[in-house]
Amino acid sequence: SDTEKGTYAHYMLKEIDEQPLVIRNILQKYQDEANEIKLPNDIRTSFHAADRVYIIAAGTSYHAGLVGKELMEKVVGKPVEVHIASEFLYNQPLLSPNPLFIFISQSGETADCRGVLVNVKEAGHPSLTITNVPGSTLSREADHTLHTYAGPEIAVASTKAYTAQMAVLAILAMDGAHAAGSDTDFDALHELSIAANAMETLCDAKDDMEQIARDYLFETRNAFFIGRSFDYHVVQEGALKLKEISYIQAEGFAGGELKHGTIALIEEGTPVIALSTQENVDLNIRGNLQEVVARGANPCVVSMDGCHRADDQVVIPLVHAYLTPLVAVVPLQLISYYAALHRGCDVDKPRNLAKSVTVE
Ligand code: AGP
Repeated sequence: SDTEKGTYAHYMLKEIDEQPLVIRNILQKYQDEANEIKLPNDIRTSFHAADRVYIIAAGTSYHAGLVGKELMEKVVGKPVEVHIASEFLYNQPLLSPNPLFIFISQSGETADCRGVLVNVKEAGHPSLTITNVPGSTLSREADHTLHTYAGPEIAVASTKAYTAQMAVLAILAMDGAHAAGSDTDFDALHELSIAANAMETLCDAKDDMEQIARDYLFETRNAFFIGRSFDYHVVQEGALKLKEISYIQAEGFAGGELKHGTIALIEEGTPVIALSTQENVDLNIRGNLQEVVARGANPCVVSMDGCHRADDQVVIPLVHAYLTPLVAVVPLQLISYYAALHRGCDVDKPRNLAKSVTVE
């Protein structure tokens, strides 16, 4: 059943593997007989009416929100802000006249998000929860809910919920573009099915990911991830994954920021994992990597077919530039998993963490 590990040693590995299926499942749920996007009308209207979207979330769901912002701004042309729930709660920014609040939460129970939702409702603003648990608090209390259909996520480290959230955000963005009459050539449904296939290819490359974990992460004290544009959001998620389950100190940085301070931390052998899936910044990120290599870093490159070089360690199959996060995160999840496994960590139940954080 959904809540059993079966032949898997850990829920996390099972849930990583389920991702292509989850995306295909989402495609079915959000598609009608004519292969058009199927979304509740009130959500469409609410999204269309908003002059600005405020995404509120925590942790990995916040990282999905960062990608959601890119999708909505690029596909719909609507301004979007993404906020860490616990920050927004005590330091609310100025709001536009007609905001729409989107809460992204796997569990639908995150107290920091709930705090914001209570205020939002009190102020009379419309709200939408994107969650994996439709009966949850955030789902019940918001005006609207979109279900991520990822199935129960048991491992504390979120994997399939994150990619499912981004898939739903992509569908919402495309629907928003249609409702606004803007001419986008981004076909979310078609591109997501291509992304699901690419995810599957990477799930089948576990031995390679284990070898990368061995080469870079079995012994190290720290690790850095760098990326630009969409890849910057994904490396933040990659770093969170690694630190929460392997206890390796890890950070994800915007490639261009290294020289503004962080590069001082690079020592002989420091692993630096660079992500390059965006053609327009490929040369820039490779330049950033050269800068750390010159200071002794041990470089690992995850690139996308099309902007890859012969000695890149991982090459992900070609997918739409806006959907690279769904695919590029898979090798990062797997590398983290194997690093944690070989360092003897409790992969599914890392120390000091709870699956859903129901206290502020
Ligand atoms: C992810 O691996 C973490 N365990 C954590 O950051 C999580 O994403 C965060 O607590 C938010 O949870 P939610 O999606 O259930 O609101």
